Amino acid sequence: METRGLSHVRDGRTVMQIGDWQLQPRAHALLLGPSGSGKTSFINIATGLLTPSHGSIQIAGQPMSALPPASRDALRRQTIGLVFQTLRLIPALSVSANLALAQQLALGRVDAAEIDRLIARVGLSHRAHARPRQLSQGEGQRAAIARALATRPRLLVADEPTSALDDANAAAMIDLMFETADATGATLLVATHDGRIAHRFANRLNLVAPA
Ligand SMILES: Nc1ncnc2c1ncn2[C@@H]1O[C@H](COP(=O)(O)OP(=O)(O)OP(=O)(O)O)[C@@H](O)[C@H]1O
Ligand SMILES: [Mg+2]
Repeated sequence: METRGLSHVRDGRTVMQIGDWQLQPRAHALLLGPSGSGKTSFINIATGLLTPSHGSIQIAGQPMSALPPASRDALRRQTIGLVFQTLRLIPALSVSANLALAQQLALGRVDAAEIDRLIARVGLSHRAHARPRQLSQGEGQRAAIARALATRPRLLVADEPTSALDDANAAAMIDLMFETADATGATLLVATHDGRIAHRFANRLNLVAPA
C-alpha cells in the first residue's frame, strides 16, 4: 500500500490527512487516532469504496483511487479482506453461508473444510447456522473476521475488529489475524483505539483529529 499526498475533505473540512505513507508487503500496521480522525475514511479510500479528494493510493501495484468502479470492485474482491466497523454480514445468510459466498466471489470456489476451521477458530462452531441478527455483537465481530480471512486476502484491513470483544477473544482474534497473515503472506492494517492490542504491532500510522 502506498499513498501520495492523500487527504479527504467533506463539507469543506479536511477529515483525513495522511500525505505520503507506505506499508510494505507482509507488514503489520496499526491505524491509530481518536474518534473522528479519519480512520474509517482512510479504510474506505484504501479499499476503493470512497474516492479521495486529494492524492492517490496504490494497492498491490494498482492505482486504486484512479480505477473505474468496476475495476476497483474487482481489485477489492480479489486482493482485500475487509472487516467493516459495522460488520455488514448478509442478513439472509447463515454465518457459514456468509463465508462460503465470500470465498466464491473472491476465489471462484468454496473450501468447506477451511470454512469449518475458521468458524471453529473464532469460537462459533455452535453458531455456524445462525443468522447474523441472531448473534451477539462480539459473535458478529468474530464472524466478520472469519469471513475476511476465508478469502485468503493479500491485504487484510480491519476497522475496530476487537471493540466488542472480551480480553480473551480480543487476544485470540489478533493471534488468528497474525497467524493467517503470516501463513498466507498477507499484509495487515488494523484500525483501533483498543489499547489491549496496540502493543502487538510494529508499524503505526497516527491520525490527528481535524481542527
Ligand atoms: N458521510 C459523511 N459526511 C460528512 N462527514 C462525514 C461523513 N462520514 C464521516 N464524516 C466525518 O469525517 C470525520 C472522520 O470520520 P471517520 O469515520 O473517518 O472517523 P474515525 O476515525 O473512523 O472515527 P471512529 O473512531 O469514531 O470510528 C468525522 O468528523 C465524521 O463526522
Ligand atoms: Mg471509524
